[in-house]
Amino acid sequence: MSVLRLRQRRLFYRSRLFRELAAAAAWPRRRTTAPDLVHLAFYDEITWGPVQRDEALFLHALVRAVRPEVVLEIGFLHGDSAFNFLRAMDADARLYSFDVDPACAAVASERLGHDPRFVFRTRSQDALTREDIGGRLADFVFLDAAHDLGLNEATFERLLELTAPEAILAIHDTGAIPRALVPAGHWTLGVTERWAGDDYEHQPDERAFVNRLLERHPEFSQVHVHSRRAFRHGLTLVQRSGRLARPRTP
Ligand SMILES: C[S@@+](CC[C@H](N)C(=O)[O-])C[C@H]1O[C@@H](n2cnc3c(N)ncnc32)[C@H](O)[C@@H]1O
Repeated sequence: MSVLRLRQRRLFYRSRLFRELAAAAAWPRRRTTAPDLVHLAFYDEITWGPVQRDEALFLHALVRAVRPEVVLEIGFLHGDSAFNFLRAMDADARLYSFDVDPACAAVASERLGHDPRFVFRTRSQDALTREDIGGRLADFVFLDAAHDLGLNEATFERLLELTAPEAILAIHDTGAIPRALVPAGHWTLGVTERWAGDDYEHQPDERAFVNRLLERHPEFSQVHVHSRRAFRHGLTLVQRSGRLARPRTP
């Protein structure tokens, strides 16, 4: 390898600026296969409502890894998570987004109506039907809507009919904020009922919901994507447990 190449390689591993410049130079060749992530530079990490940037990055990676054909999003708001899913999804996949707020339809049409993979419907989360998702089964569901235990339970019963056997359900806002990350004097320190030990529940019903699923649906496994070192809304991934297929032994 030439001295110049060796220097370039060393720089690649040592300098973010060099990697960014190298990526810009390689972009014309690589842009169609590289992950479409640049929108995340405009998402905020500390937000109330839209998905956090690092959680969006995680969900993007998950969708890229799993390549769902049918994605169902419950809770559209301004479309930040919907847009993020569309950036990760295959060209022939479909995203069905639902929100109970009628104002979301105009936002959805303005921002994402140009994308033939996207369908928005004004619906309450507990009223979804198979027809709402084109008669197909969802492979990936993102639940980020009412944050209400009863509605979530009713929604889960609907989802049992609307999802593929190996579907992944990502439930947003199941995290808790560690006391050490709350600034001194913050109003949350003055309330008592939302503290579970040293963790502040910002959406108690989402946490109660995943616990209720454990009790009532032990056939599903859960993974909590939470952090003790960062402010997180928190996600819980839910998937039907099952053995992986193996070759038959003679
Ligand atoms: C936290 S926001 C969704 C944020 C969005 N997923 C994002 O990351 O950009 C919650 C949304 O759920 C909607 N919502 C509340 N109750 C609902 C219900 N019963 N059914 C469907 N959507 C509901 C609200 O109107 C609101 O837009």
